[in-house]
Amino acid sequence: MAQEFEVVVIGAGPGGYIAAIRAAQLGFRTACIEGWKNAKGELALGGTCLNVGCIPSKALLSSSEEFEKAGHHLEAHGITVSGVKVDIGKMQSRKGEIVSKMTKGVEFLFKKNKITWLQGFGRFVSGGDTYSIEVSGGGGTVTAKHVIIATGSRARHLPNTVVDNELVCDNEGALAFPSVPKKLGVIGAGVIGLELGSVWRRLGAEVTILEALPNFLGACDDAISREAWKQFTKTQGLNIKLGVKIEKVTTRKTGVVVDYADDKGLAQKLECDRLIVSVGRVPNTDGLGAGTVGLKVDSRGFVEVDEHCRTNLPNVYAIGDVVRGPMLAHKAEDEGVMVAEIIAGQKPHIDYDCIPWIIYTSPEIAWVGKSEQQAKAAGIEVRTGQFPFSINGRALGINEPAGFVKVVADAKTDQVLGVHIIHARASDLIQEGVTTMEFKGAAEDIARITHGHPTLSEVGREAALNVDKRALNM
Ligand code: FAD
Ligand code: NAI
Repeated sequence: MAQEFEVVVIGAGPGGYIAAIRAAQLGFRTACIEGWKNAKGELALGGTCLNVGCIPSKALLSSSEEFEKAGHHLEAHGITVSGVKVDIGKMQSRKGEIVSKMTKGVEFLFKKNKITWLQGFGRFVSGGDTYSIEVSGGGGTVTAKHVIIATGSRARHLPNTVVDNELVCDNEGALAFPSVPKKLGVIGAGVIGLELGSVWRRLGAEVTILEALPNFLGACDDAISREAWKQFTKTQGLNIKLGVKIEKVTTRKTGVVVDYADDKGLAQKLECDRLIVSVGRVPNTDGLGAGTVGLKVDSRGFVEVDEHCRTNLPNVYAIGDVVRGPMLAHKAEDEGVMVAEIIAGQKPHIDYDCIPWIIYTSPEIAWVGKSEQQAKAAGIEVRTGQFPFSINGRALGINEPAGFVKVVADAKTDQVLGVHIIHARASDLIQEGVTTMEFKGAAEDIARITHGHPTLSEVGREAALNVDKRALNM
């Protein structure tokens, strides 16, 4: 006899587990299907984000930052430290403990909200008024009127390149190196390549990143990508090669050789001890039984949805990495909340223009809304204001003077269209820009609001003042 639920969520990443919690809060009898097993073979909730994404990568980024600070940045404070050493085993165990605390936290939340965890992978077996979903590993069949697909994504691999997660690694292997490679190669100068490249460079690896596109960080405002290029290549020594074409990846006993053509078309070789392949991610829709129930999936494997995450099937929704839009945990979470509330008859809405992006390099890069170039390309006349951290008292106090804030505003209405930050604490600072944009605020609003002193947030206010060319401290 099939177990019956009102809402079944397939996948327990940040999209799925949040959707399940919100559905349960709204009074639905809810189940969530998840069969992920961690490296120890234990079933774990939390998806890519908690297990092999956001959480472990930020733990390692933070550890490697502390190592770099201790070795290079305390001198400026008059503090001499000698004999700084790194214990990768301990660093990895700390990361593992954080992951475990977070994934067990989701288990606790499932119990608290009386959500049934069906341990396996789900596959549609029939549709109609009620959907039947088979759970792998002997989990039987469950039925539900409402289904939320939240099956996420996995690393895209290059053709003819075997990812063994020992020498040639995707995000999973790259987060678990047992030692610091002397020479690390990275294919793809996107978010993962830059974040994980930074981790292993700070810990002592010589890092070369090979990127197919001729321009660097094309999604960012030009001013930010130029500054990031300077910081990453000149100050930190990341060796980034743009406009390359990867020809062949060969694994040897002790390392990897990448044959590629450089931006002039000349044949080159990169020899490294380990290689990270970070060339984007693909949605998890194979094995879902989409064809059985007539669920529309596009040519790249994404489930087709409207702006409210409705699929072509009645009462079936899809959220997170498995649908269009940025592959970000907070976007997946917000879509999870939205669809649970729609099922409950509410009218929630997400403003996709207000979803922030954060790259956790050092300095961090964060933005929301349009870049100056995107706004102009859309035919909008803009005014911009920029202000550096190098003349902000708090930034000098914490010895983080590099970077700036740039505000892009509509020239006619002064409405903020975008905020762009490059700074060590950009991840926390961007929220003022997000809130302003959600409330359709103007640069003048940020400029008029009292900002505590001395704080890094004053730089955002000065940048907003500078939209009207009236920064006070410049
Ligand atoms: P996922 O987290 O991928 O979860 C999907 C789950 O569904 C998985 O657990 C999978 O096992 C399960 N599943 C798949 N198929 C089935 C099935 N048929 N039945 C049952 N279960 C199934 N984003 C940020 O916002 N900030 C960051 O700092 C950040 N850092 C990242 C770092 C790395 C290294 C990586 C790889 C990603 C990072 N991301 C970050 C992206 C973020 O992890 C994803 O956007 C987010 O996890 C997407 O959530 P999701 O719920 O859609 O999918
Ligand atoms: P990405 O899309 O950010 O970057 C991939 C890069 O690889 C691009 O610059 C692309 O041009 C390049 N590339 C593609 N094919 C190539 C080839 N054959 N040779 C050389 N270069 C090639 O993808 P990435 O870094 O894999 O990350 C996937 C996603 O995960 C991100 O887009 C993001 O949505 C999410 N993520 C978010 C993080 C955050 O929010 N801080 C951190 C890490 C990942």
